[in-house]
Amino acid sequence: MNIMRVAPSILSANFTKLGDEIKAIDNAGADWIHIDVMDGHFVPNLTFGPPIIKQLRSITNKFFDVHLMIKEPEKSIEQYIDAGADNITFHIEACDHAPRYLKMIRDSGKKAGISLNPQTPAHAITHLLDDVDLILVMSVNPGFGGQHFIPSQIEKIKTIKKMIDNRDINLQVDGGVNHHNIVDIAHAGANIVVAGSAVFHGDYDDNIRKLKINIDKAV
Ligand code: DX5
Ligand code: ZN
Repeated sequence: MNIMRVAPSILSANFTKLGDEIKAIDNAGADWIHIDVMDGHFVPNLTFGPPIIKQLRSITNKFFDVHLMIKEPEKSIEQYIDAGADNITFHIEACDHAPRYLKMIRDSGKKAGISLNPQTPAHAITHLLDDVDLILVMSVNPGFGGQHFIPSQIEKIKTIKKMIDNRDINLQVDGGVNHHNIVDIAHAGANIVVAGSAVFHGDYDDNIRKLKINIDKAV
């Protein structure tokens, strides 16, 4: 039995009532809260920064999974640690000294993740396997919610699953995930999915329940 863990992305929430939206997904069975940080440079969009995350921290004890889509993440990693992030993921494409910054995150007692854009090959992170708690495979080009899943990323998920071997590393997939393609994603080896539009439209309880399918029954 392979139950997926679901991390709703609050990028698709109603920002005029963000606190209520977080309480709603918390009650609806979200496992983690995925927080997409965008800087308008690494990706062409702007979202949340440390002050907002710090205030959201008082609303729930759920695991805050902070996805940094920013250039030079090393300049602000400490602020995200202070704001209450539980996991901090940054992009391999965004910096030159990933091992140093992963260590900085782990030394603070937080979990450290590395992410790959769709065009970045799996072998770009081979040297980081002993430095990370999470690997995030982007299945859309980052920057916006509501895009279509890029099917070629399934092979990359399988490759990275093999690379992980028996290490204790979460394999996360983000972008265009829905209750149909989640089956292939789980079979490929992912154990955490991020979902924005598939959660925040309609009934949140129903949406999360559908995503948390029993993969064995689904095939
Ligand atoms: C994209 C973000 C994703 C996105 C997911 O840059 O990293 O987390 O919000 O949203 P959906 O599920 O709508 O693709
Ligand atoms: Zn994300």
